[in-house]
Amino acid sequence: MSHDGDCFLVPGPTRMNQKCLDAMATPVITARGTEFRDIMAELNSGLRYAFNLSPSSDKRGNNTWAGDDDYVVVVVSGSGTAGMEMVVANRFRRNDRVLVPTNGKFGERVAEMCDRYCNLKHMRYEWGRAFDLYEMEMELEKGIYEAVLICHNETSAGITQDAEAIAEMCQRHDVAFILDGITSIGGMPVHPEKWNAEALVVGAQKCTAGPSGIAAIAINQSFIERVKKIRGQDDNNALFYLDLIPALKKGDDEQTPWTPAINLAMGWSEALKVLRHEGLESRWNKATKMANGVRNLFLDCGFELLADEQQRSDSVTAIMYPGGVDDKWRSRLKDVYHTQVIGGQDHLKGKMFRVGSMGETTLVEMIEGCNRMLQCFRDFDVDLPQVDVESYFQ
Ligand SMILES: Cc1ncc(COP(=O)(O)O)c(C=O)c1O
Repeated sequence: MSHDGDCFLVPGPTRMNQKCLDAMATPVITARGTEFRDIMAELNSGLRYAFNLSPSSDKRGNNTWAGDDDYVVVVVSGSGTAGMEMVVANRFRRNDRVLVPTNGKFGERVAEMCDRYCNLKHMRYEWGRAFDLYEMEMELEKGIYEAVLICHNETSAGITQDAEAIAEMCQRHDVAFILDGITSIGGMPVHPEKWNAEALVVGAQKCTAGPSGIAAIAINQSFIERVKKIRGQDDNNALFYLDLIPALKKGDDEQTPWTPAINLAMGWSEALKVLRHEGLESRWNKATKMANGVRNLFLDCGFELLADEQQRSDSVTAIMYPGGVDDKWRSRLKDVYHTQVIGGQDHLKGKMFRVGSMGETTLVEMIEGCNRMLQCFRDFDVDLPQVDVESYFQ
């Protein structure tokens, strides 16, 4: 098998399949009628699957947002950041102390958000370096924190945090654990219940291959109880559009408080059906296989990877440019080889590129894309060994 046409290997937004695109082209329906509630029922059920929660019915009127566990899912009309803001702004009061370790741009964004809504302790690590769990432990020993928030899969640096260990630490210290799972949910193992995570956030356009501009949160009962308890207290945060209380009132009726992103919900629901059909574990395994291939291939070709070895992400690989190469390489890759990857952010702009291995990307497309990337490096006079790219993806 070969891959013709463009290679789109960006760590989100990822390519949407035809069913998802067709669903979004459905002529308008009302936001309050049974047709939309049917779509929300399917979307809720698909989301529970993607979040690795217990199953729910996909038929309207059957509490589709809930299952046998402690969690409900709430769809947010807005990108992943809106989902994250909904979690942070509702869950904390201005004086609640939260611990946010970071090792990249999106973690730093979580920290910045927390700085607006609560009392932040930011443990800042270099981009791509694993958190120092001992240091975190020492901080939690102080017994002053309400929660730990992490960006689970740090897309800017290609590193996945050791969520299991952090979850265990949070349970031991009796603090809430909250995850930005925007590029992990649907793409790598996430275990909300086992980790006792109070809240997790996913963005449609990443590992679930849905449209940009819609997100969802999964929250447990202790999160909900806390939100209700602090509401009305002097130091809670100002909220309107992202207020969780009206969303919770509407949720078991497959409704939303404001006009939902109707056509995006239609598209996402279709994308989630494909995920369910493919199987969550098989999607995770495919990402592992692709990321492993990319990592080993580029390492063998003499490139350096940004992230610490033990925690390299399966949904995005951050690769440093060799000396003398910058983002002109990416422009050529796009213009001449019809292949897109993404560049570095902030201080790493022009110094690296990132390859996404998420969503519905196929191995065949990844192999072709890698061949084109290597060829494009040769165009820049980078001396590379002769390698059999395909063999890295067996
Ligand atoms: C880990 C992570 N968190 C948050 C975001 C921001 O999400 P959005 O752009 O959907 O608001 C991104 C986007 O790339 C991300 O990768």
